[in-house]
Amino acid sequence: MCGIIAAISRDDGLENAVISALERLEYRGYDSAGIAYLDRNQPVLCRIRATGRIENLKRKIAQRHIDGTIGIGHTRWATHGGVTEENAHPHACNGVAIVHNGIIENYQQLKERLKRNGYCFDSETDSEVIATLIAYNISDGLDFTGAFLKSIRELTGTYAIVAIHEKEPNTLLGAKNGSPMTVGLSPDGMNFYVASDAVALSSLAENIAYLEDGDCIIAENSDPAIAYKILDKSENEVVRQVVPNSISLKSVNKGGYETFMLKEIFEEAVVAAATYDGLDCNVDITKYGAISIIACGTSYYAGLLAKYFIEELAQIHVDVEVASEFRYRNPVLSPNSLYVFISQSGETIDTLCAMRLVKQRGYKTLALINVDGSSIAREADIVIKTASGIEIGVAATKTFIAQSLSMLMLCQKKEDIKMDQITSSINAVLNNCQQIANAAEKMKGSKGLVYIGRGISYPIALEGALKIKELAYISAEGYPAGEIKHGPIAIVDEDVYTISIAPYDKHFEKTISNTQEILARNGKILLITTKNSAGAVAGIVDHDNVDVLFLCDVEWPYQAFCMATAIHLLAYYTSKAKGHDVDKPRNLAKSVTVE
Ligand code: AGP
Repeated sequence: MCGIIAAISRDDGLENAVISALERLEYRGYDSAGIAYLDRNQPVLCRIRATGRIENLKRKIAQRHIDGTIGIGHTRWATHGGVTEENAHPHACNGVAIVHNGIIENYQQLKERLKRNGYCFDSETDSEVIATLIAYNISDGLDFTGAFLKSIRELTGTYAIVAIHEKEPNTLLGAKNGSPMTVGLSPDGMNFYVASDAVALSSLAENIAYLEDGDCIIAENSDPAIAYKILDKSENEVVRQVVPNSISLKSVNKGGYETFMLKEIFEEAVVAAATYDGLDCNVDITKYGAISIIACGTSYYAGLLAKYFIEELAQIHVDVEVASEFRYRNPVLSPNSLYVFISQSGETIDTLCAMRLVKQRGYKTLALINVDGSSIAREADIVIKTASGIEIGVAATKTFIAQSLSMLMLCQKKEDIKMDQITSSINAVLNNCQQIANAAEKMKGSKGLVYIGRGISYPIALEGALKIKELAYISAEGYPAGEIKHGPIAIVDEDVYTISIAPYDKHFEKTISNTQEILARNGKILLITTKNSAGAVAGIVDHDNVDVLFLCDVEWPYQAFCMATAIHLLAYYTSKAKGHDVDKPRNLAKSVTVE
């Protein structure tokens, strides 16, 4: 979940290229950041690192001008070792510097061997072992490239690594296994880049290529032009397909909104319409006897919502599983099942490995992803791309809408889907955002939050609880409303706020009963319902402990989408009310490429 960037810049663009890429990579991790480069005038390795946001690093860089042609940069999401400058990348040893995204699983053994050979370590990280191992292999008589390739062969685990060496100031080396890596050339050929993803290169390279697991890249700042070659895991030279960089700079800016997340929530109706118009879903699920949906986090909740859609509309049995559990069970798979993997980033290691398990058993895999060229997209048998556009906010919002609607389109004919109800009800929530902000102001001091719902409102309750945890750092749980009386109601008191999601559907009366049970115990309630329930809730709307948010009356299952928008905004405003960084919540990163 870190971000890496490396550049060979024959013009004076090194500093701007590395910094602009790091700013766009921050969504992958932002505990600390750093750069290393070879000074043009004296090929000495220079390294600048800082904890916290990129701004802190930029302040340090401003104190000295980067005058170099080759450099590497990194944004960190801590896996091994705390958030300190010593643990920040790049790591260096005897003139070799590296940046790394992933986890080196055999780093302890390598570290012990290197220590026995007299090497010392400054950090607690696994990544530092890579720089030291390369330096050790150079001291053993190999040149930089030979030492790099030998070191890579000795690593076990996941990595996207780039390395530079002060004794070979024209060479940039990279290796990929399990973590994403993208390469690109500037339009004028004067700059070559290696990065974690296309977002980092959105203003730098119009055409990019995605490396495969086992690939290494050797780039030389040679004359007359930068030259590079890609070696596969057998060290044979290979060519990887060059594709246009679909991430435009336009999509990687806030468009006048205060935060990326607010922009992305306000795009939810547009994304729903784009998904409806653009989805190429030539998959006939009725051919399968059952469907298994495997995912993590918000994508898992989209899968849970899909279960209700598919079983109701297509009468096909659906299982939904958390990828990190599925992949370590010995799951019983069926040739007559379709295995669906939902992932907005397409890089979540648990989901990727779960899909590899199913493929190894010889079964059909379908990936619903939002990022072209992502690892999951490249390995699935069938790929459906959601039309969300890039999502920068770490908390998933518009991609949840796109995923959920995409799954609905697998089981309801396109012409039967009432898109006007979906888009108009989402827009009505967006237009009523101030009422949601007011509710958030009341909730922000809660010691705990409970989200309840029945039917399709239950996955929305789970998504709401996750969002508020991620963004407002308040303990929150989502429950089936019917489960409240089986224990969770014990936590209800005047400090606990319950968000009761109760559209006027077949579950409404029962969910209101559960809400009354909570009210009877002095619990505070935010009731999210639909306007056609006004008469039925007349009895409780005037209660001092109750606030009501009325959504548009839309038919089942279309209310799922505007309810999602409502709980996304609720989490957003609660986080803002608490003064948190909405786009980069603490401890999180946008794509979870480590286990
Ligand atoms: C959602 O807001 C979280 N950021 C997280 O739960 C996320 O949904 C999960 O990590 C799965 O990510 P993916 O969709 O990229 O696989």
